Amino acid sequence: MQTVQIRLHPLGKTISLARGSSLIDVLHEFGVEFPCGGKGTCGKCKVKLLQGEIHCNPEHKRKLEDLGLSPEWRLACMSRAESDLVLEVGQYEAMIQADDTIFSFEARQGYGVAVDLGTTTLVAQLVDLSTAKVLAVETALNPQRKWGSDLVSRLEAALAGHEMELTLMIREEIGAMIQKLITDRMVSVDRVVLVGNTVMQHLFAGSDIKTLSFFPFESPDLAAKHFNASELGWRVDCKQITFFPSIGSFVGSDILAGIHATGMMQRKEYSVLVDLGTNGEIVVGNSDRLICASTAAGPAFEGATITCGMLATTGAISSVALSAGGISCSVIGNVPAAGICGSGLIDAVSVFLKKELLGEFGEILSGDPAIDITEKVSLTAKDIQEFQLAKAAIAAGLEILLRKLGVHPAEVTSIFIAGAFGNYINLENMLQTGMMDFPLDRFRKLGNSALIGAKMFLFSGMDVPDEILSLTSHINLESEEDFQDIYVEKLSFIPPSN
Ligand code: FES
Repeated sequence: MQTVQIRLHPLGKTISLARGSSLIDVLHEFGVEFPCGGKGTCGKCKVKLLQGEIHCNPEHKRKLEDLGLSPEWRLACMSRAESDLVLEVGQYEAMIQADDTIFSFEARQGYGVAVDLGTTTLVAQLVDLSTAKVLAVETALNPQRKWGSDLVSRLEAALAGHEMELTLMIREEIGAMIQKLITDRMVSVDRVVLVGNTVMQHLFAGSDIKTLSFFPFESPDLAAKHFNASELGWRVDCKQITFFPSIGSFVGSDILAGIHATGMMQRKEYSVLVDLGTNGEIVVGNSDRLICASTAAGPAFEGATITCGMLATTGAISSVALSAGGISCSVIGNVPAAGICGSGLIDAVSVFLKKELLGEFGEILSGDPAIDITEKVSLTAKDIQEFQLAKAAIAAGLEILLRKLGVHPAEVTSIFIAGAFGNYINLENMLQTGMMDFPLDRFRKLGNSALIGAKMFLFSGMDVPDEILSLTSHINLESEEDFQDIYVEKLSFIPPSN
């Protein structure tokens, strides 16, 4: 029997199998799911060919086209391994969130690209403006990550003289993504809408970031930025390229787009939008007034400050539950646990509270230095504290914003949870930790609201963002007189209603 080898990215595992084996049999064992049962209609089993060749028959080719997948992709359910391969498994990149939400739009001619430029991940979608149909999606990790995973390290790198490099590398990456979107399609792009946080906007535009780096962290340069393709070094012909305006120093156009996606600025009833990304941003309000702020909640949920923390990718514990034997958990990719991501962290703390392993102040009641979740993954007393700091930042931010508007939590009818990680959290467990205090049935998980909003912006003029900006005020939570008192109060694990 002849064998071939497949290397799976980003799992980093190499497997040997008989030449001609179907990928559905092999990948199934590595946690890859086949939602449509291998009919080639859902596209969820997609794999990117990094090396080697997988023959693509006419039917397979047609399915790829129907799903809007570019030529380097294959559907694992329709593929066989005839030679050595290196594959990137789409499902292992679950943390990069694309979107297929339906929204109302006014049809126009041409094609547009919506880009969500995140600190960690990048998503670009090619949209047919006559139908609002997404024709193709490209995702990538932000190449600026080599300078650090959070905004502060990017700002430090820029201040240390790498600003131009940061600008050029992100322009180049987005340009390459757009080029891939249109390769093999006889389309030209009429409009590109980019959204991202304020630091990402400044770095993309090549704006001066000094004022964002020092107190009071404000920039005079938050307005929309318009470009042409040649000044960005893009080899795509495009008439209109716009990076949408930021709202405040750390609340960018990703949140502006999120507000648009929720429609909260059109309703009389009060809504809350919480984006649990690298920064935790909160918006509260209605059609009369919106108020927003950012909190330093993100790093813990993205694993940066947790001993065994990691991003929501292969090997991360993504959920933890009580079981007859004590604690059970699920791991992304169905492999041995290598660490824990944000959703797993919230579950773990909630389970520890249910099992009465933690005290009111987050102390480990047994006196042990850590609590084990698996043989290799545990949370230390310091990790629990980091979680408390993050959840208290959200809870205090919410309380201050609601109070500023004079709104009682009971008056809030919708709570939108945005962000890749927000999509995976167990809301009941999150409520138990005291991070938020609203009835469960008022929550709505929104997914990548920045991308939804960016797509909606493809169909509007600048009057829509201008109107949202005119309704929205930004506050700096740390400057609020009683922020520290409320923040300290929210560190405890006793829910406010008890
Ligand atoms: S399992 Fe649905 S396309 Fe392959």
